[in-house]
Amino acid sequence: MLVLGIETSCDESGVALYDSEQGLLAHQLHTQMAMHAEYGGVVPELASRDHIRRILPLTEACLKSAGKTLRDIDAIAYTEGPGLAGALLVGASVANALAFALDKPVIGIHHLEGHLLSPLLATPAPTFPFIALLVSGGHSQLMEVTGVGQYTLLGETLDDAAGEAFDKTAKLLGLGYPGGPALSRLAEQGNPKRFSLPRPMLHSPDLDFSFSGLKTAVLTLVREQKQLDDSTRADICAAFQEAMVEVLVAKSLKALKQTGHRQLVIAGGVGANKQLRQHLDAAASRKRFSVFYPPLEFCTDNGAMIAFAGALRLSQAQRGSGSFGVRPRWDLGSL
Ligand code: KG4
Ligand code: ZN
Repeated sequence: MLVLGIETSCDESGVALYDSEQGLLAHQLHTQMAMHAEYGGVVPELASRDHIRRILPLTEACLKSAGKTLRDIDAIAYTEGPGLAGALLVGASVANALAFALDKPVIGIHHLEGHLLSPLLATPAPTFPFIALLVSGGHSQLMEVTGVGQYTLLGETLDDAAGEAFDKTAKLLGLGYPGGPALSRLAEQGNPKRFSLPRPMLHSPDLDFSFSGLKTAVLTLVREQKQLDDSTRADICAAFQEAMVEVLVAKSLKALKQTGHRQLVIAGGVGANKQLRQHLDAAASRKRFSVFYPPLEFCTDNGAMIAFAGALRLSQAQRGSGSFGVRPRWDLGSL
């Protein structure tokens, strides 16, 4: 089954073709990052307009690079939510119009389910059941995944998401948008021991997170500095990243211990963080569990994870509801 996947939930237009027998055949991505950078964050109206401009050329490029035509497509998957309403509507409109014209099934996919299953695109891939640490710009959750569509929420952030904390902290250090990758690059040059930052909820009995206090601690630290020179900024970045990584690793280990599972899957944009990967790898060899990451290019938003999740759901004989809709707010636990 050849599935066309379309992702337009935020500031990335992604299109991909996934074949249930041959795997991923092609994927195309356009990031709007540069366009939003001058505003210091995503401007929803600009995002929607840009998706409109990009999605059909990306689809054509995808078909061309896979040597396929529209007629070869067996089904279409698109991100139904959560995300920006206008941006989601672009993907939903294109997916439903194509499906109607081609007389093929169409299925709406939960964006986080796409992230959650994306490590299955890697080799070696995890097998069910596993624990997933989902850390993106909008979400920070620990989930128990026992099969496609079988997700139990174990813990989540009580305030900011991990990526949001990276981005907000980067912003107050003047690192631009999106700040996560820039902050982690600068952290590599810094001394993480010069400043001491809190590890919120590190020892709480649950699997929840809280990151807004960490961001506020950085704000206080920045205000205390007489001069915010490059080396001080690098040291603050290193201290911040170390605190984030320590909490994320500790809670992931706790989730593994609590459930008895031996496989940990990392999904979402923050999964691209090098230090997080190094610490998880070290913990995995120490504690004898396996850790899986999506291929780096599929950590952040992309069409491949949507095409893939669509193929898995359709292979279970699932169909879309037939309603043409988007769900800007949508809880993964309700799937
Ligand atoms: O999954 P994603 O592309 O979009 C959402 O669904 O939110 O995640 C984007 C988030 C942003 O907050 C970005 O700053 C963060 O992932 N991110 C990183 C890194 N690369 C992306 N955070 C820390 N270190 C990175 N290397
Ligand atoms: Zn995402």
